[in-house]
Amino acid sequence: MRLRELVFGCACAGAVRAAARLGLADALDDGSSLSASVLAERVDAHPGALARLLRALSSYGVFEQQPDGTFAHTSMSRMLRADAPDSLHHIALWCTEPWTWQLWPRLDEAVRTGGSVFPEVFGKEFFPYLQEDAPDSARVFDRAMTGSSRQAAADLAQVLDLTGVTEVVDIGGGQGHVLAALLEKQPTLRGTLLDLPQVVAGADTRLRDGGPLASRTRLLPGDCRRTVPVSGDLYVIKNVLEWDENSTRRTLRNIMKAARPGASVVIVENLVDGTPSMRFTSAMDLLLLLNVGGAKHSRDSLTALITEAGLRLGGVTTVNAYLHAFHTTVPG
Ligand SMILES: C[S@@+](CC[C@H](N)C(=O)[O-])C[C@H]1O[C@@H](n2cnc3c(N)ncnc32)[C@H](O)[C@@H]1O
Repeated sequence: MRLRELVFGCACAGAVRAAARLGLADALDDGSSLSASVLAERVDAHPGALARLLRALSSYGVFEQQPDGTFAHTSMSRMLRADAPDSLHHIALWCTEPWTWQLWPRLDEAVRTGGSVFPEVFGKEFFPYLQEDAPDSARVFDRAMTGSSRQAAADLAQVLDLTGVTEVVDIGGGQGHVLAALLEKQPTLRGTLLDLPQVVAGADTRLRDGGPLASRTRLLPGDCRRTVPVSGDLYVIKNVLEWDENSTRRTLRNIMKAARPGASVVIVENLVDGTPSMRFTSAMDLLLLLNVGGAKHSRDSLTALITEAGLRLGGVTTVNAYLHAFHTTVPG
């Protein structure tokens, strides 16, 4: 039976995606219990079909069917609310975007070749596809990153020692939550957000013109695989080195070229080993293989790339239950 359930994993993912797109979790007030037909009215759905969806979701613990047949929230369904403080609404959408469904059936090919199948399926690389052909998916990506990166940024800012740091560079920093959290932590700090042009254009409003951190921020559109044209004494690179190894090598080399001698480079990643989030991280690892030919790192694989680049690894610390920080230094 377990294997039967596993091969229907797509039904589980599809059901959670449908709940997120319908706004089911938002339509059900916390503490109340509603029938499928009332909920169907609220989310504009077919009552019978919605009852079937809710039954399937309840079997996974997302919503709970009461003895009177109505449905109530569970801790998991609450996290699908868009306004929940620990919301996974956009993560649920991101992990099940339409392009993912075209990639999974080709996992065997990717495993044979060891590389991405994305260009073959979509005619171009993943990030250009996202920006140029799938703007809705790009927006979901930004929001998913925003949700998870706000909390992670606060966790990282708490554990990073900024003593003596004057110039921080957030490479592939997305909307710049890590940068904003660091600038807020240390009022004398200045910082640069380096990311692809479309991403930098949507930087956090705190960092943009008129924002409270704008005077200490430089927004730098660019490609860190080509160059890192900014000198700093702390470089943070979080959840970026998950692509192919050559891109990681080039990026680390570019940081080494730009950094002041003795500068710190803090690399933050989810690891596939020694983590309580094994199933999630290993699934992301396979998705990365499919879309960018990338990988989530193990402690050893990241250590090997860091050492090969010539960075000195000082230590590895835990940022939170899912993230580890590799503290490295550019040789003097
Ligand atoms: C998984 S997100 C991580 C974002 C952010 N560091 C965080 O942890 O919230 C990967 C980021 O790398 C950026 N990126 C991808 N290719 C890049 C490149 N060649 N140069 C700079 N940034 C890049 C993406 O736009 C995206 O913002």
